[in-house]
Amino acid sequence: MASINTPAVVMDNGTGMTKLGFAGNDAPSWVIPTAIATRATGTSGKSTVSSKPSFLSTSGATGAGNSITGTSSPSPSLSSIKRDMADLDFYIGDEALEAAKGPGYSLHYPVRHGQIDNWDQMERFWETSIFKYLKCEPEDHYFLLTEPPLNPPENRENTAEIMFESFNCAGLYIAVQAVLALAASWTSSKVVDRTLTGTVVDSGDGVTHVIPVAEGYVIASAIKNIPLAGRDITSFIQTMLRERGEPNSSLKTAEEIKQKFCYVCPDIVKEFAKYDNNPEMFAKYMVDTVSDRKITVDVGYEGFLAPEIFFNPEIASSDFLTPLPQIVDTVIQASPIDVRKNLYKNIVLSGGSTMFKDFGRRLQRDLKTIVNERVALSESLSGAKSSGVQVQVISHKRQKNAVWFGGSLLAQTSEFKSYCHTKQDYEEYGPNIVRNFSLFNVPS
Ligand SMILES: Nc1ncnc2c1ncn2[C@@H]1O[C@H](COP(=O)(O)OP(=O)(O)OP(=O)(O)O)[C@@H](O)[C@H]1O
Ligand SMILES: [Mg+2]
Repeated sequence: MASINTPAVVMDNGTGMTKLGFAGNDAPSWVIPTAIATRATGTSGKSTVSSKPSFLSTSGATGAGNSITGTSSPSPSLSSIKRDMADLDFYIGDEALEAAKGPGYSLHYPVRHGQIDNWDQMERFWETSIFKYLKCEPEDHYFLLTEPPLNPPENRENTAEIMFESFNCAGLYIAVQAVLALAASWTSSKVVDRTLTGTVVDSGDGVTHVIPVAEGYVIASAIKNIPLAGRDITSFIQTMLRERGEPNSSLKTAEEIKQKFCYVCPDIVKEFAKYDNNPEMFAKYMVDTVSDRKITVDVGYEGFLAPEIFFNPEIASSDFLTPLPQIVDTVIQASPIDVRKNLYKNIVLSGGSTMFKDFGRRLQRDLKTIVNERVALSESLSGAKSSGVQVQVISHKRQKNAVWFGGSLLAQTSEFKSYCHTKQDYEEYGPNIVRNFSLFNVPS
């Protein structure tokens, strides 16, 4: 039984990266690729391996830089023993990427566009996350998991079935990622009211969502998805490296260039002119970490061109042409009129692909231009003076893992457990209890 002092487990399984940790901490204990490598031969990999893996008998949590560490039972519980029989011939996270480099393993990503699409792989991913990474006994912990907007209710039921039946977890809450991202923004000094009303721009690896939220409820009819995110920016950089004939144009190098050197410029034409005048000023060199040889990669104009695809998508795509600020404006305009002001005032960034320097500043400026033009037009048509619209984009320190951090904040409150479904509820009423979750009211 979960002790009152046991911290809740917070797991945010993104398309690209999974964040794992314990409620109350500032940062996840683990951030690993949401990848699983299974034996390439045989069926879905159900092997006959039954020896006890070393991680099941290890005690104590490992998590770096945390204020609370995880707990584990000294002796294996029923669920641990059940795990002994599980298919163990697979790896997750960075180990999966390593294993897939050699023969014999194939690599899978069980989350696609934010939604779980292979439940067997996801169960094994969770199993390893809980027992090997977090080193905890699920029956001793409540769990907070996250879901993308518009997640079908069947997906919640599947999640509950695995969490309660396979892992015997003490309690479960599934939170909408955008709502958690709003809660995470309360750490910003710009946020005066701790409100769950705002527009979330969540850009991760696979997709960018723009999600309006009013008092904790997602305005589903107005959500928009943009088929441009971190993965596209990385491959755009890789293409440029290849076209230039760089000796190293691996994805890893492109990813490193993106994370270390890319920034959003105020004006792409002027930035190019600056570059043409003095390319040396823009050159950045890095040592390749992929090969053993030390190769320097010239980081050229992709530094400012790659993230520009959010603002001028035609640079990289012929199908999708609407700039992000325009999408944000459309989303807010499609929301009920009485919340629009508050949606413009609290535009919150979330996810790894919003981390480019000056991303928020450019979004705010371009969106302000769109809004001001509309205000000026309506003033000239009506002849009446408008009181104006405040456009504010919130960047903050926890933005990169905002969803996880918001989950950590909510799950550490004393009320959290009362909002969870428990194992007893599940046994009494079945998996459809998770079709509806009561909205978490956060004390201010
Ligand atoms: N400092 C950085 N600058 C730019 N991009 C970054 C930075 N750090 C991480 N990223 C990129 O962010 C992406 C991962 O972000 P995140 O963890 O929010 O996505 P996810 O939750 O896995 O995916 P999704 O939300 O699409 O399901 C990767 O493409 C990664 O390269
Ligand atoms: Mg995400």
